[in-house]
Amino acid sequence: MDLKFTEEQEMMQKMVRDFAQTEIAPFIERMEEHDEFPAEILNKMAELGLMGITIPEEYGGAGMDYTSYVIAINEISKVSATIGVILSVHTSVGTNPILYFGTEAQKQKYVTKLASGEFLGAFALTEPNAGSDAASLKTRAVKDGDFYVLNGSKIFITNGGEADTYIVFAITDAEKGTKGISTFIVEKNTPGLIIGKNEHKMGLHGSRTVQLTFEDCKVPAENLLGAEGEGFKIAMSNLEYGRIGIAAQALGIAEAALEAAVNYAKDRKQFGKPIALQQGIGFKLADMATAVEATRLLVYRAAYLKAQGIPCGQEASMAKLFASRTAMEVATEAIQVFGGYGYTKEYPVERYFRDAKICEIYEGTSEIQRIVINRKLIAD
Ligand code: CAA
Repeated sequence: MDLKFTEEQEMMQKMVRDFAQTEIAPFIERMEEHDEFPAEILNKMAELGLMGITIPEEYGGAGMDYTSYVIAINEISKVSATIGVILSVHTSVGTNPILYFGTEAQKQKYVTKLASGEFLGAFALTEPNAGSDAASLKTRAVKDGDFYVLNGSKIFITNGGEADTYIVFAITDAEKGTKGISTFIVEKNTPGLIIGKNEHKMGLHGSRTVQLTFEDCKVPAENLLGAEGEGFKIAMSNLEYGRIGIAAQALGIAEAALEAAVNYAKDRKQFGKPIALQQGIGFKLADMATAVEATRLLVYRAAYLKAQGIPCGQEASMAKLFASRTAMEVATEAIQVFGGYGYTKEYPVERYFRDAKICEIYEGTSEIQRIVINRKLIAD
């Protein structure tokens, strides 16, 4: 693996870094204080081609490699983990399932709009009683002529209420276990799709996390994605790669927390010198920096493997597990470096702490990542 980015990847990093500083940073207060959904930021990202980074040019995307996408999530999340997750969900689980499993007609109809940013994507797998045990979902889809009729409910749907398309998982054959789950592309205005309450969350303010209810929701049969019964495979294979995006988001949070802590520790004087020169704080900063560096290697290695088309489910889970833990630890330590100031909203470290926690939960909890890693370990 080459430890240096290509020229194209470096250009992506610079472009996104500048965009995040000039456009996203000034918008943070609107998301934090008013929970405003960043639609205008997403429109600007669409103009830059960021809503379809890895989508082939023939479907309206930028046709770039997976590492460039991970760079973008990483850089954006350094400034706003909210925008990071919106983009990650939109791309890796909101768009890619159609790109990888859709018919040509579905790709022309949906991927082109998702890649250009005209559409925002969402992914609806989780249910009130099917979180980590995703296969135990209860939403049903019954074929009725040219339609499937969906009934059931979903929770914690990122981008819900703002999305134009939902990748929805439902049972088509209850006798067949995971082989009885199918996937549907459901458009936002489909009658019977009811957008429920938006959760008030600890962090990721400005993002949407909603309940969905399907009440005799009639989805055209042509919107079945892949074959009947292929749904669980579609969910798992896209989550596998989606997890690298969340790992990149966690890396961005950890980098931001480290940078804030270093800058503060160099400025803040106690006992006659900057606290960065006090061993207690200096050692802390050294440990934080080492954890961030190790995370960076895991995240970009997983991205590299994915970009090369090499199976990397285990590496993706390792990256997500380690990156989420690092984000949590580094954000916690950053608050400690800031002392009382770190506990106030005057500084961003309390936001990093609140945003870091969800990385250990969504797209598979840390416990689920360990299951995936261990299953591969003992199978080899
Ligand atoms: N690719 C392709 N197929 C896969 C696969 C993969 N990565 N992983 C599993 N499968 C297949 C298996 O091969 C198996 O098929 P066969 O029977 O033919 O062998 C089938 O799927 C069932 O697999 P398992 O027996 O491993 O299934 P399981 O019930 O034991 O579950 C699990 C495995 C890993 C625990 C899974 O349930 C899981 O990942 N749970 C976590 C759910 C999750 O991540 N939810 C995230 C929601 S989305 C989100 O959070 C987005 C957001 O807002 C940010």
